[in-house]
Amino acid sequence: MSETADSAILEAEAIRSGYHGVTVIKGLDFEVGNEIFSVLGANGAGKTTLLATVARLIPLMAGRIHFRGEDVSELPPFETAERGIGYVPQEKGVFPELSVFENLTVGGMIGERSPEERMDEVFQLFPDLKVLLNQPAGTLSGGESRMVAAGRALMQDPTLLLLDEPTAGLSPLYVDMFFEKVTEIHESRGVGIVLAEQNATKALEVADRVMVLSLGESFLIEDAEHLTTQQLKEGYRI
Ligand SMILES: Nc1ncnc2c1ncn2[C@@H]1O[C@H](COP(=O)(O)OP(=O)(O)O)[C@@H](O)[C@H]1O
Ligand SMILES: [Mg+2]
Repeated sequence: MSETADSAILEAEAIRSGYHGVTVIKGLDFEVGNEIFSVLGANGAGKTTLLATVARLIPLMAGRIHFRGEDVSELPPFETAERGIGYVPQEKGVFPELSVFENLTVGGMIGERSPEERMDEVFQLFPDLKVLLNQPAGTLSGGESRMVAAGRALMQDPTLLLLDEPTAGLSPLYVDMFFEKVTEIHESRGVGIVLAEQNATKALEVADRVMVLSLGESFLIEDAEHLTTQQLKEGYRI
């Protein structure tokens, strides 16, 4: 069992968050290192709320979040992005009125390296985007706009990338492609990944460690290869 990361990039201590005074995330403790850390759980378990909390889009009700040793609990989202937390939301990951090129350029406004160099790297990962550069992002297919959203986040040169159900609603071909890209982003670019997923089978294939969320609480944190079907079923309450 591996409850802690070898060397933590992100440390969440007793975090609580929610909406309009209603607690959804109920005191979670976890660490993420340079790994693929998958957050699994049934619909409504709190995956989206958790990722949005780490990205600092939802205020903390209690607890602290440290990123690369710094307390980022009170920082606004653009500052966490500057520090290296990339976030690809479950929905609305692109600016629909802006072209693909402009969407990627917005991501490139953060960081030191030349935007051209970073955009070339995004094209290596998602070659399909090259022919869509002038198209308004709002006219893209689901799979294409997921690539733009991921590309925009990668343009920020993140140390940690939060991906919220990147394959939800996509055709099987795109699903397989996206899981391959997640592995590639981690392995060839050294980016840590927090991957919220409902597709447990696929997520377990790519993840190093897994947290199963159940009603806003951590049911367990385990090495992906050691997670049993029984544990998964209990975590999903099925
Ligand atoms: N904007 C919101 N306002 C109020 N409640 C919300 C909002 N978004 C999500 N919730 C509630 O928070 C809980 C967790 O939702 P969510 O984080 O979206 O779960 P998941 O991503 O695992 O499906 C659910 O009970 C949901 O109804
Ligand atoms: Mg969700």
